[in-house]
Amino acid sequence: METNPKIASHIADHEAWFMAYAADRCAVESASPNGDIGPMSLKIRHSMGVLHNARRIVDSEDFSAAQGRVCLLAALYHDVGRFEQYLRFHMFKDKESCNHGQLGVRILKQKKRLQGEDAPIRKAVLAAVALHNRFALPQGLPEHMAIAAHVVRDADKLDILRVMDEHLSGPGPYNPTVVLSLPDDANLHSDAVIQAAREERVAAYADLRSVNDFRLLLGTWFFDMHFDSSRRQFVEDGHARNLLRGLPDVSPYKAVAQTLLEKLGALRGASC
Ligand SMILES: [Fe+2]
Repeated sequence: METNPKIASHIADHEAWFMAYAADRCAVESASPNGDIGPMSLKIRHSMGVLHNARRIVDSEDFSAAQGRVCLLAALYHDVGRFEQYLRFHMFKDKESCNHGQLGVRILKQKKRLQGEDAPIRKAVLAAVALHNRFALPQGLPEHMAIAAHVVRDADKLDILRVMDEHLSGPGPYNPTVVLSLPDDANLHSDAVIQAAREERVAAYADLRSVNDFRLLLGTWFFDMHFDSSRRQFVEDGHARNLLRGLPDVSPYKAVAQTLLEKLGALRGASC
C-alpha cells in the first residue's frame, strides 16, 4: 500500500464515535423491559482490548503508515456489529442469528464511518471486518487486506485468552456459556485435541469434549499467530500459561501441557 500522510495511530475521532455509538445502543437496551447491558459492556471492553493488542502489533511490525491505520481501524470496528446483533437477537451466536462481521460492514457503510478515509484504506478496513470471523481467509486476498485481517484475528484471540483466563482462573463459579457449555469433567478428553497439541497445530472447536480440552485448545492458538509480535504477546501476557497450568496433573494432559508450557517458557526467557 502507498504510504498515507495521516498518522497511523491517530484514530481518536473513530474511537470517540465508537464509544458514543456503543453507549447509544446500550441505552436502547436499557430502555427495554428486562434489558441487560452486561453482555454489550463486555463487547465494549473486548473491542478496546483488541485495539490495544493491534496497536502493540502495529508498533512492533514494519508496516507502512497506511497499513498501520487499516489495522487499527479494523481492530476498533471488528465487532461493531455485535451491538445491533444483541439488540435484535439477544445472543452472540452467529449460526442462530446473523453473521456479525457482515452486519458490522453494513453498519459502517450506513453510518458513513469510513467516508473520510482514502478508498484503499476504506476497502481494506471493510474487508478485514467482514473476514475477521471467517474460519479461514479466502485464497488470493490482496496482501494489505490479508495483513489487516491477520492482525485483527491475532489481536482478537489475544483478548479472548484474557477473557478465558479471567473466567477460569478466578474464584468461580464461572458462566457455563463462556466455556461453550462444555462439561467440566476431568474424565472427559478428546484424543483429537490432544493429538493437535502434540503435533503443534491448532485444535478444532468441533473436537472439544470438556473444559480441559478448551484450555488446551486455547494454548494451541499459539501455532496460529501470524506475527512475531503477536507470538511475543501470547507468551508475555501469561494468559495461556495460566490456562494450561489449570489442566489436571495426570495423563493425557500432563505431558502435552508440560511440553507446551516449556515451549512458551523458553520463548519468554528468550525475549527477556
Ligand atoms: Fe467478532
